[in-house]
Amino acid sequence: MAAAGRLRRRLLLVVPWHWGCSPRRWGTGGPAAGQVRAAFLRFFQERHGHRRLPSASVRPRGDPHLLFVNAGMNQFKPIFLGTVHPRSELAQYKRVVNSQKCVRAGGKHNDLEDVGRDTYHHTFFEMLGNWSFGDYFKEEACSMAWELLTEVYEIPKDRLYVTYFGGDSSLGLNADEECRDIWLCLGVPASHVLPFPLKDNFWEMGDTGPCGPCTEIHYDHVGGGRNAAALVNQGSPDVVEIWNLVFMQYSREVEGNLIPLPQHHVDTGMGLERLVTVLQNKHSNYDTDLFAPILDAIHKGCGGPRYQGLVGEADIGAVNMAYRVVADHVRTLCVCITDGIYPGLSGAELVLRRILRRAVRFCSEVLHAPPGLLASLVPTVVLWLTLLLFLGEIADIINENEAAFLSSLERGRRIIERTVQQMEPSMDFPGESPSSAWLYLKMRKAHGLQARQLEGENVHLDVHSLAQLHSNNVPVTDDSPKYAYTLGQHGQYEFSPCQATVLMLYRDQSLQEEVGAGQRCGVILDRTNFYAEQGGQASDRGYLMHLGQQDTLFPVESVHLCGGYVIHEVTAVETLRAGDQVQLFVDEAQRLACMINHTATHLLSFALRHILGDNTEQQGSHVTAERLRFDFNTKHLQQVEQVVQEVIKRNEVVHMAEVPLTLARRVQGLRTVDEEYPDPVRIVSLGVPVESVLIHDSEAAMHTSVELCCGTHLLQTGAVEDLAIISERQLAKGISRVIAVTGGQAKQVRKKD
Ligand code: SER
Repeated sequence: MAAAGRLRRRLLLVVPWHWGCSPRRWGTGGPAAGQVRAAFLRFFQERHGHRRLPSASVRPRGDPHLLFVNAGMNQFKPIFLGTVHPRSELAQYKRVVNSQKCVRAGGKHNDLEDVGRDTYHHTFFEMLGNWSFGDYFKEEACSMAWELLTEVYEIPKDRLYVTYFGGDSSLGLNADEECRDIWLCLGVPASHVLPFPLKDNFWEMGDTGPCGPCTEIHYDHVGGGRNAAALVNQGSPDVVEIWNLVFMQYSREVEGNLIPLPQHHVDTGMGLERLVTVLQNKHSNYDTDLFAPILDAIHKGCGGPRYQGLVGEADIGAVNMAYRVVADHVRTLCVCITDGIYPGLSGAELVLRRILRRAVRFCSEVLHAPPGLLASLVPTVVLWLTLLLFLGEIADIINENEAAFLSSLERGRRIIERTVQQMEPSMDFPGESPSSAWLYLKMRKAHGLQARQLEGENVHLDVHSLAQLHSNNVPVTDDSPKYAYTLGQHGQYEFSPCQATVLMLYRDQSLQEEVGAGQRCGVILDRTNFYAEQGGQASDRGYLMHLGQQDTLFPVESVHLCGGYVIHEVTAVETLRAGDQVQLFVDEAQRLACMINHTATHLLSFALRHILGDNTEQQGSHVTAERLRFDFNTKHLQQVEQVVQEVIKRNEVVHMAEVPLTLARRVQGLRTVDEEYPDPVRIVSLGVPVESVLIHDSEAAMHTSVELCCGTHLLQTGAVEDLAIISERQLAKGISRVIAVTGGQAKQVRKKD
């Protein structure tokens, strides 16, 4: 006891009041949610040397297995798997802390059905997390967590329980006794250190990907000297998990087997909502300052009884559940719409539509609220979540979707009533009748959510082979020759030749020194002028000429980038060995067509912004040799072609240069938040030299097209010749997709007009 007192005094000296989290400064209600979040970030940043990062968007980038970002670790998956490009900013991280926006409403981690029934599951929540990438491991992770909870937040130790992985014989995994012993050494009594099986204490992001044993910290809301070990992991609202510390050691492969990761990492996640509940001495997340203002706004909007926090049978007519559902769902809607996910008909959009409709049903059927209640909550949510986005737009999207849903519900109701009137009392209700629940199920099935989550496996290097390449110090591919082209005397593009050495071959998930004739394989070279698919630009095709007696040509079907290695997919025409020399021939016509369309995409983006203002944000693009596709979030489309054509006519120089990422981030108007960028990063600027952009950043970036881009571009805009928009389609409310063609194709389209 005396020792604990001394330790606390020492910590109070070292960790002064500015943590903002000393109970003496909180007042009786405990710290505000904002103070809790700030104290977490500061603790890891200032005390334990972590780098603080902003939250990523909830829209997953480049991960076909995910509908939404569902954990803080999603954006770091390439680090865990070792697929990160060694030159990228991501690869430099060792210790990181942030608060990540997460949505768990689809896929492996889906809490949708629990939301509203209990007081601690949410479709959207904030996850406080600290990470070690090949740096500290179990011991430091546990002791930092314990220090934060018990010394900084001053949570009574006797209310905390920790769990560890109890092993799994079918996977040949032993119990994590190391973790158990760490907790015991930290002074947690043995009766509070509990083993649990795979289901509870082995964390996996999805069906495949990085995973490992975890240790969780649970809090007993009742306390009072009792031992609540029997309630841990039993779904009791009294004993709730607050923090999960995952020790990333494996990668789960498609076949289900576990492969050890090249490095050990730590991934922790603590739900801000649950932590705030503990620190504000509440029993329900909905009683904290994160939800109370929204519940008040719901009450003001619909009248009727106030929220009383009742659950289960005590909650007559599910009125309290309705309050919780609406408060939870409107937060999710605001966050998703802000990040560019709109209610729609497939994937994450379909899930969001379902969330919106669930909220509307509770508003209208249980709370008897007038239409528009949901959207009226947006300002409160936006204020409390400090989302910097178009309030009006979010509210419009919610209102339009609500109106459409209410009218289809009404139609459905009328049909059901008619059907019931025509039925004999003994007849079964016909399966085809459109009750809303049936419509939901039907829609889900029709859009194959499950199937979509499993799609997208590609011929990338497996984790094991990648680790082997790195550990054998095989240098990553020098792909700078992809930019080696110039304009010839007559304005034609001249691509420099490129010769390379085969470093390794990849086949059947293993690295090989040799492949025989007729075998499909990935060829890893020391250098290449092939463009690997990335940044929305399709990969090059072409040939490798095997320099030998015959100079045999191997067609290159596609090219991928993985962990800095460029993989050329070929079917070997004859035996190919590590050390062989090859001459590289990119299909220049296809490459040039891609370059034209990529430069044209920048022109289109610039023209849209120029005409429609800064709210026009690119939502995605895809550039191939045949056409370019561009998704953007605005409804108007006028004068755009004209602006593009003017820039084409001016034959502006396309300036391209690599600059340090920190410098590029200072250029206003360049979005650098959610993407993974190499350092140095490439800037592509139309008409204005990159140096001028860096010096007069805001001016230049506003008046021309300036983008961070790794694509291959024309050297002057004139070669685009022409651009014609051949279709514009609304994908979802507020997002349109434009398909355009360039050059001769564009001219033909114009002739037909
Ligand atoms: N990835 C783990 C989780 O989501 C810990 O952050 O629970």
